[in-house]
Amino acid sequence: MAKLQDKVVVITGGISGIGKASAELFASEGAKLVLVDLDETKGKEVVSELEDKGHDAIFVQADVTSEEDAKNVFSKAVEKHGQIDVLFNNAGIGASKPTHEVSFEEYRKTVNVDLDGVFLFAQNAIKQMRNQPNGGVIVNTASMYGWIGAPGSAAYNAAKGGVVNLTRSLGVEYASENIRVNALCPGYIDTPIIPEEMKAPLRQATPMGRLGLSEEMAKAALFLASDDSSFMTGQSLIVDGGFTAQ
Ligand SMILES: NC(=O)c1ccc[n+]([C@@H]2O[C@H](COP(=O)([O-])OP(=O)(O)OC[C@H]3O[C@@H](n4cnc5c(N)ncnc54)[C@H](O)[C@@H]3O)[C@@H](O)[C@H]2O)c1
Repeated sequence: MAKLQDKVVVITGGISGIGKASAELFASEGAKLVLVDLDETKGKEVVSELEDKGHDAIFVQADVTSEEDAKNVFSKAVEKHGQIDVLFNNAGIGASKPTHEVSFEEYRKTVNVDLDGVFLFAQNAIKQMRNQPNGGVIVNTASMYGWIGAPGSAAYNAAKGGVVNLTRSLGVEYASENIRVNALCPGYIDTPIIPEEMKAPLRQATPMGRLGLSEEMAKAALFLASDDSSFMTGQSLIVDGGFTAQ
């Protein structure tokens, strides 16, 4: 039996990197996808690639920081499918600059997308999942930098630390309503979020000597999204090639 057979799965940031690889893996496990991202043209391309492989997917253009867009995503998903089984709350942006050079506007933008957007989508999902007999599952994408510090990315690290504790709190708050909430904490993964010139030093800094692949994150996300993690909530799964074990 496929691990997400007929499950309705909303994936934010679902048309690039970790989100796109997860869309492909989840669809191959029987999921019906609602992909959410900023770029409508690219969104439609990804959906038609999935449809060509016989998968069920729609794209809903949204900015994860917009309350109106968040409501629209969930109403479109429920209108089409009647329910939402899984939210993969994965959209995010990187931010790398010495703290003394970061403007307050830049700080707020990072925290707005990487933490506020995660809260907003989780809250909308929970409102729907509470009314469903089978509850639901939320997987938030945090980062290993939700657990450790590093120079030059204080806003990002603060936001991701926030996602880790948001995940704990939501996990505890909704455990009795059959809504599980966990976080995926990737190490350095080879996606467009990492500038090309950074890839060689980050490979070297990782004990396994390479960047992780989006497909490897997708497998971890599938574990968290499916019944394979049925007794797990409020937790964060670090998948980082050994980085945080150093
Ligand atoms: N790649 C890594 O090394 C790494 C490490 C740790 C955590 N992460 C996290 O993984 C997640 C996915 O990142 P990725 O590496 O696949 O990068 P990516 O850039 O390939 O994908 C991120 C997606 O999020 C979308 N997005 C950004 N802002 C948005 C907004 N306001 N509204 C809607 N969509 C928006 C982007 O358009 C993009 O499609 C992010 O949360 C990121 O912080 C990545």
